[in-house]
Amino acid sequence: MTDLFDPCEFNGFKLQNRIALSPLTRTRSNDAGEAGPLQALYYAQRASAGLLITEATPVAPGGRGGPNIPGLWSDDQVAGWKLVTDAVHAKGGLIFSQLWHAGRLSHSSLGGGEPPVAPSAMRQPGQIFTAEGPKDYEEARALRTDEIPGVVEMFRAAARRAKAAGFDGVELHAAHSYLIDAFLRDMTNKRTDAYGGSIENRARLLVEVLQAIIGEWGGERTAVRLAPIGHAYQAWDSDPEPLFTHVVERLNDLKVGWLDMVEGDTGVSRTAEPSFDLQKLRRLFKGVVIANNMYDRDLAIAARAADSADMIAFGRPFIGNPDLVERLRRNAPLIEADPRAYYGGGAKGYTDFPTLEDAAAAS
Ligand code: PHB
Repeated sequence: MTDLFDPCEFNGFKLQNRIALSPLTRTRSNDAGEAGPLQALYYAQRASAGLLITEATPVAPGGRGGPNIPGLWSDDQVAGWKLVTDAVHAKGGLIFSQLWHAGRLSHSSLGGGEPPVAPSAMRQPGQIFTAEGPKDYEEARALRTDEIPGVVEMFRAAARRAKAAGFDGVELHAAHSYLIDAFLRDMTNKRTDAYGGSIENRARLLVEVLQAIIGEWGGERTAVRLAPIGHAYQAWDSDPEPLFTHVVERLNDLKVGWLDMVEGDTGVSRTAEPSFDLQKLRRLFKGVVIANNMYDRDLAIAARAADSADMIAFGRPFIGNPDLVERLRRNAPLIEADPRAYYGGGAKGYTDFPTLEDAAAAS
């Protein structure tokens, strides 16, 4: 027996089950970064998850981590997302918007034509995918102290737009060496102002952004994504345990409702080489913990049996299986989506996967 598939109540929400759709970049927006009917269909097809979390959604043109990613940096982007939330709600689902700034992991050709910004001047090795194909990452420019309030305001404005778009809550992306995480960690934050140096200083931007978001939404409708032991995109800290202990203590002070915890190197290794026991953070956090990273049915059931998380998020399995919850419930076979259609294109490889019911009707 497992409670994975049972309805539950968290933070004043009634959830259909303990399974979440993990944020998945699918790069199918128009060139203005607007969602539309295609995204509405895609999310609505997956509305049987207890909680849907959208693809990482840029809060600024310069915060884009790829082309054709629907954003929330402009009021013009609200209407497209409203189609999405209406379609999900019509199916009885709940959906949070994941707010994102890619920091140095952006590119001038994706945003306003300016080099990307970061806590400290730094260039990421390797290449980024842009509308003109792969390009070398650029040297990021260190944000000036007097620019930080503007960053906080970008997140506040996007959180407000998410509300206008009818979302049920928002999740702040504070993982994977994107802007917020890059401030947290000492390998990417070499600042000497109030936003660098001590753990308290490095966590200051996260806290200020969360205060702004919570001002719009309240803590119960605010989630945070962290990857405390992961090293995706060179996210390193010399001493992650006290850093993330401090971060989770601040989340508790702020009454953040949800912690979306990536347990490893996203998509690469399930739990990474644990530099400390993540269960310490799970026990410390007072809200709902959503565990994340390459879970399968057995691992999810085991995690609930051990109570190592309140909910389990699935990412890639949701691509080819819009009715993933039902398939997992019945232990039915899963459809393997073609990775060549993960990004870009249209309905193909996006909204054209059959549910078990569709398959039964067809045979
Ligand atoms: C991530 O969080 O790892 C991530 C976010 C957005 C992307 C790709 C990866 O486009």
